[in-house]
Amino acid sequence: SYRKDVSDPSSPVSLIFSVKEGVGTLANALKIFKNRGINLTYIESRAARGGQGGYEFVVTCQIDNGRVDDVVGELTSDLGSKVLVMSRNKDQKNATPWFPRRIEDLDQFANQILSYGAELDSDHPGFTDAIYRARRKEFADIAFNYKHGQPIPRVTYTEEELKTWGTMFNKLTELFPTHACREFNRVFPLLQEHCGYRSDNIPQLEDISQFLQKTTGFRLRPVAGLLSSRDFLAGLAFRVFHSTQYIRHPSKPLYTPEPDVCHELIGHVPLFCDPAFAQFSQEIGLVSLGAPDDWIEKLATCYWFTIEFGLCRQDGKLKAYGAGLLSSYGELEYCMSDKPKVLEFDPQKTAVQKYPITDYQPIYFATESFESAKSKMQAICEVIPRPFTVRYNPYTQSVEILDSKEKLLRLANQMQGDFNVLKDAIGKVVNGTQTK
Ligand SMILES: [Fe+2]
Repeated sequence: SYRKDVSDPSSPVSLIFSVKEGVGTLANALKIFKNRGINLTYIESRAARGGQGGYEFVVTCQIDNGRVDDVVGELTSDLGSKVLVMSRNKDQKNATPWFPRRIEDLDQFANQILSYGAELDSDHPGFTDAIYRARRKEFADIAFNYKHGQPIPRVTYTEEELKTWGTMFNKLTELFPTHACREFNRVFPLLQEHCGYRSDNIPQLEDISQFLQKTTGFRLRPVAGLLSSRDFLAGLAFRVFHSTQYIRHPSKPLYTPEPDVCHELIGHVPLFCDPAFAQFSQEIGLVSLGAPDDWIEKLATCYWFTIEFGLCRQDGKLKAYGAGLLSSYGELEYCMSDKPKVLEFDPQKTAVQKYPITDYQPIYFATESFESAKSKMQAICEVIPRPFTVRYNPYTQSVEILDSKEKLLRLANQMQGDFNVLKDAIGKVVNGTQTK
């Protein structure tokens, strides 16, 4: 079976620690691991800047719980380090849940999926269809073997698959002008023009990913099965969206019990082309990194009521921006009827709202704009118990932990530079003056 518990005792542990500058600092740190016969699978070191000296190390190794405590004890006593332990093992005491630091680290999720694509539940429309199941395995294998940086393999869809797509596409595009939000309708023609969105063609993930990278820096990654909420949200922190590539069973073209290529490409992709929405999505991802389990559940609920089922108010009317609505003809009509209740999006309240996963939603949350939703999400950061603040560095495509004076100073300098650019531009655009 491909099922694997997310809390896996054999999964890697990462230690992040800083040491004061001195001769043989790295060697001394590494000796602590070597003396215990611990193999390191990854080492990263970086000089702390700002003239204070010292280094920061990230090491990844395969060790059990008891020995982690020993190593942390020794690093603290011998080198005076402050150690952050990151582990996927829930039994590890005092550990921050492991999270990817670099975009390539997302490769590690491929073998952590909760169910492999070819395993279908007994009530799935394709459960007894051997051909469909074999096809699902082909797609799962593509995703399972995918590594960051590779082009996403192109798929030749069958006549039957194209027919299913066409049915969906034609039905939904009827409703978009009246039911979808302005941002969605603005982008849709661009996807038709650049990515092959047509009723007789299923667009390729690679073409969409390339287009997204040019518009908002978002990209797609094929996914073999269901990811844990923690892993799925972590992808968003890097502006990476895990997307399925298979299509629903042909016997029910307007229904799917799980996300499929129609849901991802029609529901999700258009909004990821919008800068404010992209930023909002990334914000949910960033606040999830290293958050405790109960908070992951709350953030996943916020994700559900926004990115999946969100409504917004535009020109005095309710419009849909959630992918679950935009990819379901029935629910897209229903959500604007007088049947469901519509509440104001407020992360603290939305986060604890219960919801059904198989029926239409009885409650939706509406927001004024993606900017305001983003600010509200950022504010939630302050109440999540997490001993550090993170920030995404787009130049290195990595997550920085802002835990030292040097790092704060560097960030302040960079922001100062951005402010200068802004001031200069305001002078030219608003006042029409030129700097000599
Ligand atoms: Fe979705």
